Amino acid sequence: MITVKKPSEINKMRVAGKLTGDALKFIEEKIKPGVTTAEVNAAIQEFIVAHDAKPSFLHYRGYPASACVSVNDVVVHGIPSGYVLQEGDIVSIDVGVVKDGWQGDAARTFAVGKISDGAQKLIDVTRECFFEGIKHARDGKRLGDLSSAIQRHAESHGYGVVREMVGHGIGRDMHEEPNVPNFGKEGTGVLLKSGYTIAVEPMINAGTFKIKFDPDGWTTRTADGSLSAHYENTILVRDGEPEILTL
Ligand code: MF3
Ligand code: CO
Repeated sequence: MITVKKPSEINKMRVAGKLTGDALKFIEEKIKPGVTTAEVNAAIQEFIVAHDAKPSFLHYRGYPASACVSVNDVVVHGIPSGYVLQEGDIVSIDVGVVKDGWQGDAARTFAVGKISDGAQKLIDVTRECFFEGIKHARDGKRLGDLSSAIQRHAESHGYGVVREMVGHGIGRDMHEEPNVPNFGKEGTGVLLKSGYTIAVEPMINAGTFKIKFDPDGWTTRTADGSLSAHYENTILVRDGEPEILTL
């Protein structure tokens, strides 16, 4: 069942969402060569706790950290470690927050120092995919309209759209119905309604859409070793333009 959130619930999601977006702004300034991914995670965790909220990822299905920190060919779910960020890397940071029982979930991909034009293009197009997609996130449209817009934009640049992992409904739980794929067909799928809250999260690869998993069971990489970028926000569907809760 897809839940329509009440105004009072939406207000709480606004608070959780704002904190999620603020955590990403706070960490952006700390991303530079020489910083470890574990330090990035620790800073995010402190930020969330200092704002009387909880990191939703910590211990979720055994996940060992408060943020996912995914470098270069890591698509998502990179586990923070002693890896030292290098000039030229790209790093995707995914953060989830629970505040007053309600969830926010968002991700950005950042440049570490100076990066190649190709890497910057991948980051930019991935963000554009999100905004192309959410043009269709309005009452009366279908989820396939949103999904196909994301896919079209990514593929027009020759990029691969990850299939196995998708966006999701969000609310009291981090993952609620419906699934929100980044590929699909116009005019198909769930009918969107005002009051739905969903996390839209294109995961876009410079090469093949295929992925592989590390033995840790989390770290997800591009099958061909190409770069991957991720951009995610929690949004509220309305009659008209959606409200982005995690900017
Ligand atoms: N934001 C991600 C998602 O939407 C990551 C959560 S996985 C976790 O599914 F294990 F880190 F929590
Ligand atoms: Co998500």
